[in-house]
Amino acid sequence: MAFSKVVSSVILVVSFLSPTFTLAFPGPNPGFSPGGGGGSGGGYAGLCPEFYEFSCPQANDIVMSVLEKAIGREPRMAASLLRLHFHDCFVQGCDASILLDDSATIVSEKKSGPNNNSVRGFDVIDEIKAKLEQACPQTVSCADVLALSARGSTVLSGGPSWELPLGRRDSKTASLSASNANIPAPNSTIQTLIALFNRQGLDETDLVALSGSHTIGVARCVTFRQRLYNQNGNNQPDATLERTYYNGLKNTCPRLGGDNNIFPLDLASPIRFDNTYFKLILQGQGLLNSDEVLLTGNVGKTMELVKEYAGNEGVFFEQFANSMVKMGNISPLTGSNGEIRKNCRQINN
Ligand code: HEM
Ligand SMILES: *[C@@H]1O[C@H](CO)[C@@H](O)[C@H](O)[C@H]1NC(C)=O
Ligand SMILES: *[C@@H]1O[C@H](CO)[C@@H](O)[C@H](O)[C@H]1NC(C)=O
Repeated sequence: MAFSKVVSSVILVVSFLSPTFTLAFPGPNPGFSPGGGGGSGGGYAGLCPEFYEFSCPQANDIVMSVLEKAIGREPRMAASLLRLHFHDCFVQGCDASILLDDSATIVSEKKSGPNNNSVRGFDVIDEIKAKLEQACPQTVSCADVLALSARGSTVLSGGPSWELPLGRRDSKTASLSASNANIPAPNSTIQTLIALFNRQGLDETDLVALSGSHTIGVARCVTFRQRLYNQNGNNQPDATLERTYYNGLKNTCPRLGGDNNIFPLDLASPIRFDNTYFKLILQGQGLLNSDEVLLTGNVGKTMELVKEYAGNEGVFFEQFANSMVKMGNISPLTGSNGEIRKNCRQINN
């Protein structure tokens, strides 16, 4: 891929400059180890799992201790944090652009169609970042905090773990327009879902596996109302909705009003990361159109994968881990690009 070529040449340059660069670039053995400085390790787009091994060895422990408290207080927080990483990575890459508030130079992504009244968890990210700044000032990026929080949230909800490449840096920009254009809407067709994932270098397998995130968390009425009352412009419900399930949904989501009423994405086990999401899709109980069309959209590959993951949680967990690494590697800022923000909500002065 073109960008990994660019990244490796940047890292070569960085290695030559390393004596002066070392302080500003607190990776493991900056510039001296093979693929050092958080360099080209593992073909991970310039990221490597050991990135903070020397500069902030306790980084993951700090993240996990804050997550344990936050998710203990409110189990849904795991889902909200997992989703934040997704909405970050699909916009300018995994660069913490989603965390920036409005300012003189920034138009925040927080008010985009997919994000407005929907994304949450910013206070938890702030708490993690504040603790990291105390322990290892200006070392761990907000983009890595999001990636670590997504993994930790998955694990604490009963899902798989994975070796997580690190060393992302934080953007100095956000993109409201890309947030509106790149993040799929819940009423997307299967073709649109595939196209928007392909645009990020993700394939149909990644689409199905990562949609499995909807094994935890909730959605607002406004995101699935179309299916209940007017799926195809003919004032009829989506015929793929199982009948009893459909009747229950109408209680939460009337034809008019109640936009912000919430319903679990996985009705059977809403705070447990497992493969029930896929079993429910087989029963016509996927909540969003984007969930159900993985099975009913007439794309053989996604249909087969829904069935496979419904029948085998181990296969789902393994692919989920692989696809999370892949998503986490979307266009990271590395080397001297971007910065390590002190406060995740604003760029450094
Ligand atoms: C395939 C395309 C996807 C679509 C169309 C989609 C859409 C949505 C929508 C509409 C919601 C409910 C938001 C609300 O009502 O406020 C939601 C929730 C959620 N999404 Fe997705 N999503 C997709 C993929 C993903 C991916 C790839 C991930 C993570 C890797 C993810 C993780 C989540 C989680 C965990 C929640 C629950 C959040 C909470 O309870 O706070 N989604 N998604
Ligand atoms: C975001 O949601 C608020 C509250 O519902 C609404 O008033 C506002 O118009 C929305 N903003 C955008 C940009 O859609
Ligand atoms: C999805 O919803 C939006 C906004 O409600 C609407 O404009 C669009 O036509 C819908 N798309 C599909 C495929 O139904």
